[in-house]
Amino acid sequence: MHLTKEQENMLDGEQGEVTERMFRLLVRLGDIYGAEKMLPVASVQVSGVSYKSLGDPGISFLEDQAKRGGRVRVLTYLNPAGMDIQDWEEIGIPEDFAKKQAQAIEAFRGLGIVIAATCTPYLAGNLPRYRQHIAWSESSAVSFANSVIGARTNREGGPSALAAAICGFTPDYGLHRDENRQPDIVIDVTARLENNADYGALGHHVGKLVENRIPYFKGIEEAGTEQLKALGAAMAASGAVALYHAENATPESPLVKTGGLEEVTVGRKEIDETYAALNQGETPDIVILGCPHASLGEISRLAEKLDGIKLKRPIWICTSRVMKDAANLMGYTATIEEAGGRVVADTCCVVAPIEEMGYATTGVNSGKAAAYLPGFCKQQVVFADIDELVGRQMK
Ligand code: F3S
Repeated sequence: MHLTKEQENMLDGEQGEVTERMFRLLVRLGDIYGAEKMLPVASVQVSGVSYKSLGDPGISFLEDQAKRGGRVRVLTYLNPAGMDIQDWEEIGIPEDFAKKQAQAIEAFRGLGIVIAATCTPYLAGNLPRYRQHIAWSESSAVSFANSVIGARTNREGGPSALAAAICGFTPDYGLHRDENRQPDIVIDVTARLENNADYGALGHHVGKLVENRIPYFKGIEEAGTEQLKALGAAMAASGAVALYHAENATPESPLVKTGGLEEVTVGRKEIDETYAALNQGETPDIVILGCPHASLGEISRLAEKLDGIKLKRPIWICTSRVMKDAANLMGYTATIEEAGGRVVADTCCVVAPIEEMGYATTGVNSGKAAAYLPGFCKQQVVFADIDELVGRQMK
């Protein structure tokens, strides 16, 4: 691999032992995937933040890197943590877990990472531009950045993202390269999609169908930001899809070639079958919205729906701290709380320890959450649109 003088210095340890070790990791990764050079990254997003996935060894590792002088050199955000960092007690997070999670957050802060724990960094102050190289970890954020923004990132693991943050570089391979961003299959959507849950169902179905390939969608040009984030998240979960194109909706769609590709039609039948396959429960103990983390628009629409009603069982909407602060200012949080719901920041239904909090059946409108909750959190899932879920929590 060709390295610049600055990169040779990193490898020789002239920029400290942590940088040296992290840069070696990046070079090894680049060698495995045939990269010929390193690319500077504009921003990083690090996953593996919840104490549930980090554990004590993970915290010690991070603390040690900070003690040895490790510091990030580009804007670096975190994926959701295991709790609302400020209001963990109010949502019933066990105290032992909260103490460990707080220690992990301090370890990240020690490395200079911004304590913005969200899977929608692009809605919360970390917005890359078209064609910019970044190193993000969380699969739905990777999908959104590549597909909707047209930035370029591979799906980084926690360690390779941390290494990119500390060194400011990532190896030039995979989705950083033009030739690897062409579609493999055309998906012609004939179903009329009514809400975010429909886009989640479409994503779940197509992810399984295309598995790791790059789909090119026709027929979803009306999709907005929230629908595209729901679609990408579900495809990333069911089929490890890190990039998709959508005709007249995503920026690279006019630039790629679709001639001669296999074409598959997805209609209402496939969407309805996906709902049936993902539903195991009847009455949710809790409904958790905001997977991926909710936009301010999604929070305001929930507040409108809950205005003046009383829920029998809770609804959370998960979001970033930035969106929660805005929701507080706008009075949306107060309206949601009056109904018996909560706006929960920094965490989500999958990385919070909900299985330890007495919940066994969770209602979601996200294809990704519906796919992950049974395995990660031992939950039965009710997968439906928001109106249906709110209705069930009132009975
Ligand atoms: Fe985000 Fe958690 Fe869903 S990380 S995409 S809210 S599973």
